[in-house]
Parts: sequence; C-alpha cells; structure tokens
Amino acid sequence: MVEKKTAWYETPVIKDMMALVGGRALRAVMSTFCSSKTYQGKSALLRVARYLEASLDKQERRALIITDSFTQKFTKKITSYLDLIEMEYKIWSGAIPEVPISTIYEGAKICEEFKPQVLIALGGGSVMDTAKMVMVKYEKPEINLMMILPYFGSLGLRKKMKYFIAIPTTSGTGSEVTQAAVITDTDREPPKKLVVLSDEIYADITILFTDFVKDMPPFLTMATGLDALSHALGSYISNWGSPYSDAMNSTAIKEVVKYLPRAYKYGVKDIEAREHMQMAALMAGIGFGNTTAGIDHALGHSFGKIFGVHHGICVGLFAPYSIAFQAKVTDRWRALCPIFNVKDENKGRDELYKEFLQAVKNFIVSLDGPVCVKDLKDPVISKEDYFSKLDLLAEYADDDAVSLTSFRTINRKLYKTIFEYAWDGKDIDF
Ligand SMILES: [Fe+2]
Repeated sequence: MVEKKTAWYETPVIKDMMALVGGRALRAVMSTFCSSKTYQGKSALLRVARYLEASLDKQERRALIITDSFTQKFTKKITSYLDLIEMEYKIWSGAIPEVPISTIYEGAKICEEFKPQVLIALGGGSVMDTAKMVMVKYEKPEINLMMILPYFGSLGLRKKMKYFIAIPTTSGTGSEVTQAAVITDTDREPPKKLVVLSDEIYADITILFTDFVKDMPPFLTMATGLDALSHALGSYISNWGSPYSDAMNSTAIKEVVKYLPRAYKYGVKDIEAREHMQMAALMAGIGFGNTTAGIDHALGHSFGKIFGVHHGICVGLFAPYSIAFQAKVTDRWRALCPIFNVKDENKGRDELYKEFLQAVKNFIVSLDGPVCVKDLKDPVISKEDYFSKLDLLAEYADDDAVSLTSFRTINRKLYKTIFEYAWDGKDIDF
C-alpha cells in the first residue's frame, strides 16, 4: 500500500486551527501521563524474562528482535534469557538510520511470516521507531502512517502483539518511553522527516541495561545527550507543562548538566554517569512525550534531513534559538536558571535572560557541540550552500508536527529568519 503523500499536520486547515488553539488549550482538553513499565540494573533482563515466562503461554512465546547492523552485537545477551524461558525468537537487523518507510514494510512482512507475540527493539532511536511502525503495520496493514491522529483517534493495537519491549543502546532519544516515531518519507526530494504520534505505540516494557550504552563513543554520547537536553528544555519552556512533566523535565536537565560532561569525558570509566544519563534521557522522554518538543526539533528535523547532520547535534544547535524565540512570550526559562548556575541576585529580566541563554550555549560548547551553523565541523556547510536552501529549510520546519504546538505562533517567514540568524549565532531580536 502506498502512503498518502501529505501528513495530517501538514494540511493548512490543521495548521491554522492549531495556531489559534495553541498548546495551552490543547492541554485543557487532553493531557496524557503515559510511560512504560521500566526496569533498570543488572537483573533487569532476568526480571523481564521471568515476567514474560509467567504471563505468556508456551505457544505464545515467540519474539522478534529488531536491531541494526551496529547493535546486533548485543543480541546474544538478550537471546540467552529467551533461551532460558524457552522462547522462540528471530533476529531482524534490517533497521537503518532515519527509518525510511520501505524498512517498515520489510519488518511488517517478517512479522506476518513469523507471527511474534513479543517485539523487542534493541538499538538507538531509529531502531525503536522502526519497531513502533512495524508493530502498527503488522497489526493494522490498512492504516496510513501519515494520517494517524494522535489526540482524538485510537488504533486498536495489541491484538496480535502482546508486548513491545524497548531496550535503548543510546541515552538521548527517549523513544523507549514516548508515543512518537520519527520516520523518513524517501519519496520526497530531498527526503523529509515525518512524526507519527499515538498513545498506542508506547513500549509496554523498557529496559535500561547500562552494559549496552557504556561503550558509546564520545561523539555519540555527546550528540544523544544533547538530544535529551533539548527534549527537556523545549518541553519545559512550552506552556503545556504540568507538575508531572515539569518534574520530569527539570530533573532531566539537572542530570544532563551534571552527568553528560562526565559521560562524554570518561566514557566507559564512569558507569555512574552512564546510568544517570540513561535515566535523564528516559525522564526527558516522559517529559516531552507527554507534552511537546520545542521548535528546536522542527528546525533540527529540517536541517538534519537537508544537510545530513546527526539529530542530536541539530537539536542541540537550535536549542538556544528555540528558547530565545519563546522567551519573548514566556518566563518559563527563569525556573531553570539555578540549574545552569545563573543567579537571580535582583537582576533585571533582560540581564538574567541573557546570562541564562549564554549559560545554555556555554554548556553546549563545553561539550564541543556547535551553537551556530558556520561552526559545524561535520559536515562543513558553506555559507552559499546554506543560504541557497533557506526556503526549503523553512518550508520543512514549518511543516513539522512540532510547529503545531509552539507556544508562540510560528510561520515559514519566522523560521527562515531563525535559520538566517543561526548561521553565525545572531541573537533573536524579534
Ligand atoms: Fe530528539
């Protein structure tokens, strides 16, 4: 089945309606407090294995492990526990970065043949998002992924699949506890990132097993950590917060500020930092997953797809611009000042805000993350190339699902200006 070409949130009527309603009104009619059953620690795999053994009849014990070529090395650890509880399994390592739609069909076909009752996603965000979409397509082949309405519709999943288990091998995307999957529509030129949202694609069980993240190389540690930071910052500053999501987001930011520099610097030698970053990413996932990400994600999705840049680097780069854009209409950032060691000391709003924004930028730079496009090292982007693509960048960002729930109403023209400013780090002055 060929998907419809436009996602529901790209249609003008929805965009116009949401610009009028805004996140606050949406919260008034719909708030979620969803997450998955989570196990962390050395005994987590055994605990979950015993749970599956007890809750599934013998003939139901069929698991498909979805992984990719980088993370399939960890499958042995999982399969040893599946052997223990006599669960039949199949490993599919066909997930690939950015989740092109074709891989979803491939995975669903494997499910159709193997008929698993348990789906295990072992990998980073792309693997988990692939698994979410494979589950949807396996259970409901007739569903158009681009037309899944998150706020008012239900899919009716879990008729074929009893458990979806997410085991992250990075600490950042939060996909292990979110209702979102980011996939790529490769039929568009250049390809475009699409967001699918549904409260039925949450993992039933999440396992944080530190052995799977401890050897992450420094770049991946930094980039995925910045992703977690951006989730929590963007969500906290949106006006969709509640005491529940605020607690998750502010703690996640605190943990990232404390432990990401250690995880980046010491890697496998600092297991405590690794554990804390796993939890920080998960808490940020719960925070933004139950509210919204900031427009750094709309900017980052667009920029990342057009220039082929890692997601975490993109959203980290645009996080200060996202905060600055919203700061014109909210003071939510004020509560985050102590985390970045910015002291109020009866300073005026402008002075405090400038110090806060600078502290956020300093933190990103201290991890070798870029805060403007011209400083990006991999890939190096020429000014000419970047400015020639401003219209496309703005178009893709404006058509992103995240744009619908921006606290401050945004449009294509504003996005274009933000992209312009981001070239050399000009402060948002509008
Ligand atoms: Fe993200």
